Amino acid sequence: MRFLVTGGAGFVGTHLVKLLIEKGHEVKIIDNLIKGKKENLSDVFDKIEFINSDIRDYENLEKNLHNVDGIFHQAALTVVQDSFENPEEYHDVNVVGTENIFKLAHKHDLKVVYASSSSVYGHKEIMPIREDTTRQPINPYGQTKLDDEYLYEKYSKLGTKIIGLRYFNIFGQGQTPEYAGVITKFLDRIRERKPPIIFGDGTQLRDFIYVEDIVMANLLAMESQISNLLVNVGTGNAITILELAKMIINISGLDIQPIFEVPLEGDIKKSQADTTLAIKSFNWKPKKELREWLTEIL
Ligand SMILES: NC(=O)c1ccc[n+]([C@@H]2O[C@H](COP(=O)([O-])OP(=O)(O)OC[C@H]3O[C@@H](n4cnc5c(N)ncnc54)[C@H](O)[C@@H]3O)[C@@H](O)[C@H]2O)c1
Repeated sequence: MRFLVTGGAGFVGTHLVKLLIEKGHEVKIIDNLIKGKKENLSDVFDKIEFINSDIRDYENLEKNLHNVDGIFHQAALTVVQDSFENPEEYHDVNVVGTENIFKLAHKHDLKVVYASSSSVYGHKEIMPIREDTTRQPINPYGQTKLDDEYLYEKYSKLGTKIIGLRYFNIFGQGQTPEYAGVITKFLDRIRERKPPIIFGDGTQLRDFIYVEDIVMANLLAMESQISNLLVNVGTGNAITILELAKMIINISGLDIQPIFEVPLEGDIKKSQADTTLAIKSFNWKPKKELREWLTEIL
């Protein structure tokens, strides 16, 4: 089949593109390279079609839907702290851009699998978080992802096939440090033999999921008979940031302690997915454990 991947030069996008190629699909990418890099795709570049374009350009998006069988929509601005500085731009890219995708999917009868986020939930006390928990984002980035879910509801009612995957915190090769890239930041410090820096007291709870598990969920969602769903994609397990720092230090064998700094604005306190729905819907299961991956790469 032939798929359009928006944001295909980014962290999740590149892993997704590689999986699609491996499975024998044809891939067209739309990415404006504001964050993504063509080099990330160098080993598959001769097998893909790359279009340097913005998802806000409706006409160009439409032009590129010729012969496409489905859309994986990953493109977004993703840095929580930055979203406080530039809320309008975040809205423009993440909401107006996403509506372009949904509108065109509706017009051309294409299924969309798109990246939502656990950030739609905001602060929650009861863990793990189920999909029917109230959504109260605490930063402009999370608000854009919630606005996308309202659009999901609008276009689903119109009969458009859309599956929104609420990713929890993703880890893996190629992650940029800015966005939830706490693991990347810790690893960079450890490689310089410096202690990891924790913002806040380290009690923040996170559900870290491997990027290959995320992209497999995307593929299974596209292939499934399910037309409309908003679903958590996490592991169901969670650790605190302090535990994470200690785990990385322990694997590295260094004799150091983490450093604590002031908490970040808009940082969610606890996040842990209830994965029952994803497992049931897509017959999917996360495979890679965080400790296993850290041990492999450190
Ligand atoms: N990484 C995570 O932990 C995480 C967690 C929850 C949700 N998400 C969501 O997953 C998706 C992918 O995230 P990522 O970590 O790969 O981010 P990323 O920044 O690595 O990738 C996003 C890609 O989108 C492109 N892009 C941005 N604005 C664009 C525009 N206007 N037009 C075309 N392309 C544009 C960027 O150049 C980049 O290649 C995003 O929608 C993000 O919100 C990520």
